[in-house]
Amino acid sequence: MTQKEQEPEELLELSSDTRDLLEQNNLRPLWEVEDEMGNLLDDLEPDIWKWEDIQAAIDGIEADVPIADLPPGFQRRVAVPINAEHAISNTIYIGVQTVSPGETAPAHRHAASALRFTIDGTEDMKTVVAGEEFPMKDNDLITTPQWEWHDHVNDSDETAAWLDVLDLPLFLDTLNNSHIFENHELERQPVTKTQGYWDSQYGHGRPASEESDGTIPGPFEGNKEPTPPYRFGWDDMLESLHQRADNDDPDPHDGYSLAYVNPATGEPPLFPTMSFRAQLLNDGPTDPHFQNSTEVYFVIEGEGATHVDGEALEWGQWDIFVVPPDAPHHHEPDDEAVLLGITDEPILRSMNFYAEAAIDE
Ligand SMILES: [Fe+2]
Repeated sequence: MTQKEQEPEELLELSSDTRDLLEQNNLRPLWEVEDEMGNLLDDLEPDIWKWEDIQAAIDGIEADVPIADLPPGFQRRVAVPINAEHAISNTIYIGVQTVSPGETAPAHRHAASALRFTIDGTEDMKTVVAGEEFPMKDNDLITTPQWEWHDHVNDSDETAAWLDVLDLPLFLDTLNNSHIFENHELERQPVTKTQGYWDSQYGHGRPASEESDGTIPGPFEGNKEPTPPYRFGWDDMLESLHQRADNDDPDPHDGYSLAYVNPATGEPPLFPTMSFRAQLLNDGPTDPHFQNSTEVYFVIEGEGATHVDGEALEWGQWDIFVVPPDAPHHHEPDDEAVLLGITDEPILRSMNFYAEAAIDE
C-alpha cells in the first residue's frame, strides 16, 4: 500500500478534544481535505456521438415540440451531448439546434460566449446578432459575443441545423456562477444594420485617420478587446487550408490547422474561454501527443478514426467526439478529412497552466 492509499486516520490520529474543536469552528486538517479534493466532478471519458443518432434525436424533438411551446428563457430546440454533469465537458457545451421553416428562436442575450457552426443551412437561414442578419450557409462560423442580442430566423423552406458552442458549464457548474440572462421584449430584435456592417468594422480594413484628440478610432483597445459579432465564411477558410496543404508542411499532431482569430486582435483565441480551429488531415496518421486541455471535435467532412488512450473513436461526417485532458491521442483519416477542433486551451493558458507533449512510440 502506498502512502496515498492509506486512510488519513492511519497517518495521524487527532484527539477527540481537538476533533471537536475543529468541527465546532468549521476547520479541518489539510491532510483530510487534500485527500478529497479533485473528486467533485467525474473524470472525462473519450466518447463519440454519431450523426445518425443525433439526427434521429433532433428530428424527434422537432416533430414533438414547436419552439413557441418551450418555456421562456429556454426557447432553443437543442439536443445536447452529455459526457460530464450537464454538457460534453466541464468547460465546453456543444448542442445541435434546429429551427423549422417559418420559425424564430426568440431574441435574448446572456453572459456566456456562444458561436454557431452551420451544419445544414441556407442564405435565408439567418442568425441576427447585434442588429445584423448573418446568413447561415453550410460550415459558416458566426460569433455571438457576450451580452449581444441574438435570435435565429428561418425564412427558408427547409429545417436548418447547426452547432451551438458555449462556455456555459465553465460558468454555471465549474465556477458555480449564476447565468446573467435576459429576454428581448420583441421576438425578433430590430435589424438596424445592413449585411456586412460588422465585417466593415472588424474585417480587412481599419480606420486610418486619427481623432482630433490623437486617439485612433475603431477597435484598438488592447489585447482584452472583446470578440465582435462576426461571420467567418467557410469558402475562405477551406481555401486557406488547401493553400497551406499545397505549400507548407503539416503540424505533426494536428495536420493543417488554422485557428479562427478574434477579429478585433487578429490573433487567436476567438473567445477568452474557447479556441476553434479548422483542421485538414490528408497526410496519413498524425503523431500521438497529449495536452491538459479538453478537445471537442466536429467532423466537417471525411471519415477516419481518432485513437484516444488506446480506444478507437471511428468517425464520419457530422459526428461529434471528445478527447479528455491528458489523454494520448492521434488522428487517422481514411483519406482526406476536415475537422472543427474546439478547445478550452485559452482558460489554461490564462493561468500559465497549459501543457502539451509529444509521445514517443
Ligand atoms: Fe443564446
